[in-house]
Amino acid sequence: MQHILKNETNSTHPRTLVMLHGTGGDEYDMLPIAQMIDAEAPVISVKGNVSENGMTRFFRRLAIGQFDEEDLVERTHELNDFVVKTAKENELQSSEIVAIGYSNGANIAASSLFHSNEVFDAAILFHPIVPLSGIELPDLSGKKVFIGAGTGDPYAPKSEIDELQAMLEQAGAEVQVFWHEQGHSLTQEELQAAIQWYQTL
Ligand code: MLT
Repeated sequence: MQHILKNETNSTHPRTLVMLHGTGGDEYDMLPIAQMIDAEAPVISVKGNVSENGMTRFFRRLAIGQFDEEDLVERTHELNDFVVKTAKENELQSSEIVAIGYSNGANIAASSLFHSNEVFDAAILFHPIVPLSGIELPDLSGKKVFIGAGTGDPYAPKSEIDELQAMLEQAGAEVQVFWHEQGHSLTQEELQAAIQWYQTL
């Protein structure tokens, strides 16, 4: 997958950040957020492999909030394999691998956790929804997840956030949800809450 590596020689750092952009973004979008969360950490910032009318995404959708599940599963495995391989190639596999995604990037990060407990140790999900239902989640004991949400978010409503939190917790993950009163945007206060949460890892 197309990507940018940053600080990749800092392999003794305890954590590696995997950055996943929102629809219409690219591998450059999330670099300032990685810098704010942990300026020293190795970063693998990934570009989605799907184009929707010229807008880059991580998997196909049929409509807003209605995902092409077959494609989602395939792309999730593709991302998982890519992250494991890239971490290994750069000798980062013994660090904790933290997924940080916004919107579509948060949804594929959540899907990754739904499919495997061997890729990410923790995740920051900004404005996710339940990526797919009807599957049994792996044992996520020991995994830590931060969810950023907005009470006025039309794409990631409270019912989706609550269900995602419940599914992750039932699988054993420790989940913290931060709410702001705005929409789908990633706000400064949400980012500050994520930074504080990250410092407790
Ligand atoms: C998605 O398609 O992943 C969600 O609707 C969020 C978005 O990217 O617009």
